[in-house]
Amino acid sequence: MSEIKVEELNYRKKQDVEETAKLHGTAFSGYPWFEHWPLEESLKEVHSWKALKKNGRGKVFVARAPDGRIIGLAVGHLHQPTKHSKEVSQKLGKGKHYYLRKIATHPDFLRRGIAKALTAARLKHAQKLNCTKVYGWTSVDNTPKIEQFEKEGFRDFHREVTKTGGVKSERGYYNKRLK
Ligand SMILES: CC(C)(COP(=O)(O)OP(=O)(O)OC[C@H]1O[C@@H](n2cnc3c(N)ncnc32)[C@H](O)[C@@H]1OP(=O)(O)O)[C@@H](O)C(=O)NCCC(=O)NCCS
Repeated sequence: MSEIKVEELNYRKKQDVEETAKLHGTAFSGYPWFEHWPLEESLKEVHSWKALKKNGRGKVFVARAPDGRIIGLAVGHLHQPTKHSKEVSQKLGKGKHYYLRKIATHPDFLRRGIAKALTAARLKHAQKLNCTKVYGWTSVDNTPKIEQFEKEGFRDFHREVTKTGGVKSERGYYNKRLK
């Protein structure tokens, strides 16, 4: 979608940060997440991504409609091995890896290539950082995201069952080789 502009979120622009937080809350309150995101919590989440940008290892992208509204968001950064991600790290193998963290398109703008454009910006960043693989995960119920991964050449490489607040859910991990 040529008229959509992808840019980095400017944290000094209060209105952009608020719009991004609202979009985050809206997108993750719906299918397949049905999470509860009061504006205050969404704002905290958006601000928490600032730390991921340290030393250029992460970026927060937004998509802007021609009227200036923020209608898409995406976060990406270098893979950070943790205890929890040990199995994922092992399966990713050697090399420098890039994690596709959150992505969301405003519900009124779905299927117009916004996630595709936001992912392209993250892949470009990953390439600049000399990463060999990019990866991300989603719920196994998230058909739109899985279809997007597959359309863009990602392959599933790991499954994980998690329990949050007593509710079990399954994650599917997808990756793509960059070089
Ligand atoms: C997943 C999500 C980001 C996709 O955003 P989008 O801007 O609509 O995606 P795009 O228009 O770039 O779609 C790219 C491709 O993904 C696939 N796709 C996207 N939505 C789809 C759907 N509802 N059903 C089937 N395939 C879909 C298609 O292959 C599509 O290409 P096509 O339209 O040419 O067929 C969006 O549905 C969303 O925000 N969901 C809620 C938040 C979320 O789940 N984020 C992911 C967290 S892991």
